[in-house]
Amino acid sequence: MTLMERVRETTVGRSIFRIPDRVTERDKAAGHWASFLLHIYPVKVRRIELTFNYSAFLGVASLVLFGSLLVSGIYLMFFYVPSPASAYGNIQAIQTEVPFGQYIRNVHRWSAHLMVIAVAAHMARVFYRGAYKSPKEFNWVIGVLLLVVTLLLSFTGYLLPWDQLAYWAVTVGTAMASYVPLVGDQVKELLLGGPSVGSATLVRFYVLHVAVLPLALVGLVTIHLWRWRKDSMLTLDPDKGTVKDVRPGVLVSTPADPVVTNGKRILGVVPGKPAAGDRKELSDDDPVMVWPHLLVRHAVAALVVLFLVLLISLSFDAPLKEIANPTVTPNPEKAPWYFAALQELLAHYHPLVAGVLVPTGIVVGLMALPYMDRNPLFTPQARRIARLTFTAFLVLWIVLTLIGFAFRGPNWGWVWPWVEWHGEL
Ligand code: HEM
Repeated sequence: MTLMERVRETTVGRSIFRIPDRVTERDKAAGHWASFLLHIYPVKVRRIELTFNYSAFLGVASLVLFGSLLVSGIYLMFFYVPSPASAYGNIQAIQTEVPFGQYIRNVHRWSAHLMVIAVAAHMARVFYRGAYKSPKEFNWVIGVLLLVVTLLLSFTGYLLPWDQLAYWAVTVGTAMASYVPLVGDQVKELLLGGPSVGSATLVRFYVLHVAVLPLALVGLVTIHLWRWRKDSMLTLDPDKGTVKDVRPGVLVSTPADPVVTNGKRILGVVPGKPAAGDRKELSDDDPVMVWPHLLVRHAVAALVVLFLVLLISLSFDAPLKEIANPTVTPNPEKAPWYFAALQELLAHYHPLVAGVLVPTGIVVGLMALPYMDRNPLFTPQARRIARLTFTAFLVLWIVLTLIGFAFRGPNWGWVWPWVEWHGEL
């Protein structure tokens, strides 16, 4: 008898752990369904989902970073008032007077940057796996919306410290809005609450940042995970081009318990080794219990992400420049790094193209992707063109981002970052 089993047998133990030990998979599944926390997960997933190569656990990483942003953000809200008269001073006080203020501000800032990277990388991983194909097209579309909301959350947060970096990054970012055909000026006015960035802009960005966008993200993530839970055992049959359910009608064992029941009823469990004939080589499509196999991996992934955030936040302080000054324009004026590719394009093309048509084209193109790609096959060899096209766009975007972020200096002229550094985070 293990120590845990002994604890559960005691009077106190029985009063805490009400659920009896679950032995068979049917019992374990019942326990899973009965649990409030576990029921956002499917009971079983295909065995391949346990591997790092499948998802690199980037969806979970995005979720954990969002959690870190919520917790640190609520703490910061206690000490912050969104007005040009107080905002900058509040941030200074957070850094110098509030207990753990500097650290929590660092956690919030670095988690936001990491979340943009994690969400984009999660999208790329899902693409390379072909996981946007039937029946998961709609979840991909929800994912694209999540990417847009994540970027907007980061962008609206950028203004709140009310320093020179914030003020001018948002001035550059919102300037693009005025190039939207027909309604450009109205859109810009709606965002800014006036002709330029000012106190009305700060209040609008604050409300979007702490209420509207987080609620939208929570709503979308709920649908996203619900669809993942519903679709996780469904896969496309490449031979027939139809969706198949890989759940078998009979109980199938997990790698931890490689006994196949072959449809026989389980009347009791006798400890011992399975007979040789009962062993089954598990394939990638075989279902395995989410608890404990997937959950343990997710817990490890979450700890790794949180450790990384802790390490970065202890090592680097979030930037805070001089207080915002509408009369002193920094040179170069830079948008946040995730818009650096667009800003680089703006230097070469008309703002209508670079600021409106390109971003709209990217979002619409990504949403339409699962409906345009009619190839039912998943293997890398069968998806050469799709993978090459996506990789070409991805590399182009990363190069443009790097150029805009690190290789541009005063008057948007070329600089070598090791000679002059103008990148801001
Ligand atoms: C806030 C942002 C996001 C969060 C928190 C999130 C979270 C997750 C989680 C936890 C999973 C299940 C486990 C995994 O595959 O890692 C998942 C699956 C998925 N995500 Fe996301 N995701 C986000 C954004 C996106 C984006 C931007 C896309 C694509 C445009 C996307 C497309 C998908 C798809 C298609 C699946 C199903 C994959 C499969 O079942 O094989 N997600 N997401």
